[in-house]
Order: sequence, then C-alpha cells, then structure tokens
Amino acid sequence: MNNQLQTIQDIIQQIDLLSQSDKDVLMKAIKDADLQFTITEFKLDRTEKVKRTTAILLEETIEELEQKRKAVEDSHEALIKSMEELKATQSQLVHAEKMASLGELTAGIAHEIQNPLNFVKNFSEVNTELIEELKEEITNGDMEEVKAIANDIADNEQKIIHHGKRADGIVKGMLQHSRTVTSDKEPTDINILVDEYLRLAYHGLRAKDKNFNADFKTELDKTLPKIDVIPQDIGRVLLNLINNALYTVSEKSKNNPDNKKYKPLVSVSTKKTNTQVEIKVTDNGNGISGSILKKIFQPFFTTKPTGEGTGLGLSLSYDIISKGHGGKLSVETKENEGTEFIIQIPIITS
Ligand SMILES: Nc1ncnc2c1ncn2[C@@H]1O[C@H](COP(=O)(O)OP(=O)(O)OP(=O)(O)O)[C@@H](O)[C@H]1O
Ligand SMILES: [Mg+2]
Repeated sequence: MNNQLQTIQDIIQQIDLLSQSDKDVLMKAIKDADLQFTITEFKLDRTEKVKRTTAILLEETIEELEQKRKAVEDSHEALIKSMEELKATQSQLVHAEKMASLGELTAGIAHEIQNPLNFVKNFSEVNTELIEELKEEITNGDMEEVKAIANDIADNEQKIIHHGKRADGIVKGMLQHSRTVTSDKEPTDINILVDEYLRLAYHGLRAKDKNFNADFKTELDKTLPKIDVIPQDIGRVLLNLINNALYTVSEKSKNNPDNKKYKPLVSVSTKKTNTQVEIKVTDNGNGISGSILKKIFQPFFTTKPTGEGTGLGLSLSYDIISKGHGGKLSVETKENEGTEFIIQIPIITS
C-alpha cells in the first residue's frame, strides 16, 4: 500500500472516538483509493513506456527520412547532370541535322545563285562593250550618242545591283539556315516561304537525280496575313515535309516503272482559318502503314536506307511547330494512296 495511505490508516485505527463500523467504512474507502492509485500508477508507467518507444521509433523514422532525402538529393543531382548532358547532345544533334539539311539545300541554292550571277556577268560584259563604244563616240564628238550610251550603261548598272542583291539575299538566307542560335520571330509571308522552299527542295532533288520528275501544285491563300514565326525554322519544316513527299512519290514511281498512269504529285496549300494559318503538304506516294505511323515522330526513326536519312526530320519539325510556335503538326495517310501533313500555326501578329 501507498505509504501516505498506510499512515492515514494507522491514524484512523488509533482514533478512539470512531466506532469499529465507522473505521471499517473508512478502511474500505482507503483500500479502494489505494487500488485506484495502483491502477493509475500502472497506467502512467505504461504511457511512459509507450512514449519512450514512440520517441525511439520517431528517431529511427527521422533517420530513415534523412537517408531518403539524401538519396533523393543524389538522384536529383544525377538527373540534372544527365539532363545537361542530354541538352548538350540535343543541341549537337540539332546542329548536325541543320548541317545535313544545309547539304540538301546546297544544290538548290547553287541553282538559285547561278541565275542572278548570270545576269551580273552578262550585263557587265555588255557594259564593257558599251564603254568602248562610248569612248569612240566621244572621239567622234557625237554627244547625243554619248548620252544615249551612258544612259544604257546606267540602266545596266541598276540591273547588276539588283541581281547582286538577290544573290546576296540567297547567301544570307543560307547562312541563317546553318546558324545554331534560335533566332527571333518576325512577321513572315508564309506563301513566299512555301514558294521558296518548294523550289529549293525540287532543285535539290533534281541535282541528285536528273531523271526525277514530279508535278507540283500550290494552292496559296492570298488573304493569308503575315504571322510572327522564325522563318528559317518554318522553312526547315517545309523542306523536310516536301523532301519526304518527294521521296515517297519518287520511290513509288521507281518501283512501278510500268505503271504509266501514275503521275507523281506533291501539293502544298495554305489557308487562313479564324485563328490560325494552315499549311498542308500532300503527296500521292506510298502512304504510311499503321505500325510505322506510330513511330514517325520519334527521333531517329527512319525507313530510308542507311546514309540517306537521319530520321530526325519529323521529330525536329514537330518540336519547331509545337514548342517553337505553339502550333500543331498532324498527319493523315492512306496506304498506297498518299499522305497529308498538316501544320497549324496560331495567328499572332505584332
Ligand atoms: N510523306 C511520307 N510518305 C510516306 N512515309 C513518310 C512520309 N513522311 C515521312 N514518312 C516516314 O516517316 C519516317 C521518318 O521521317 P523523318 O522525316 O523524320 O526522317 P527521314 O525522312 O527518314 O530522315 P531525314 O528527314 O532525317 O532525312 C520516314 O523514314 C518514312 O518512313
Ligand atoms: Mg525527312
């Protein structure tokens, strides 16, 4: 029994004024109190033990959590590192792809530059002759003729300047194409871009394969507003889509040399809808089968023979349209009948 209670009990026993029955009642009350006391003590003791166990468990959990936090931190660092490596690889790949498509473009560009250069050369030759004539007429003293010849020379000079500028523009465009830094968006006439890249793609392919021939059709919406895009990026998308289309129609006609009815056709159309500009590149080539269709936007997926395609064309095009311009690149195809790629770019003008 609890010491204090024992003392109280002893005192009660010694009080003579109390009758035995009163003492019995009090003793019983004290015993009950003692029992309650013991139970409470026991409960307290148990709570204390639970508290201690919980504290130990808590400490262990904290330690475990700390270890996990460290592990997460480590893997986070590893992730950041591999992401940086991935970014570096990606930009190398983008550069490699740009250089590859630059190669494809070179033939087209050479053709484009040849034309203004011919003008420059011819008008310069004519001017050389005119200057000789001019000297003669000065000697003859025929000032009317001198004036007429001088005017002709001046006219030719204007033409030389004009065609020189054209060649300059083409070279500048070529340099822009090979640049790795992302350039700024600028208001762009998509119809002009389509026209330009269609010609570049066609001449590029013709330079590789003289026998190749395909019909081209353009349906360009004259009401198309200028939209803010990165022209050389959209140009790359167009070039890739047109090249893919030309490739499939040329394969189809190579594989069916006896089919006189097959006329390879690649068409490009532009259209303005309420909120966007839509560009469609359509071919009547082989189409894309279901199992391949799922993969065409994956980087490095190609069905072209080794060395002919990197398989990056469509994946880069997809990124340029979606991430670069907030648009959509989708495809509709029917096996053996042909394919249509649809570019949708929201109209945002500055
Ligand atoms: N118009 C199309 N008709 C049929 N198949 C197509 C067409 N466009 C793309 N494909 C298929 O999608 C694949 C991937 O195209 P993508 O442009 O990404 O790479 P690639 O043309 O093979 O190589 P790269 O563009 O790097 O030269 C092609 O290999 C081809 O199988
Ligand atoms: Mg391609």
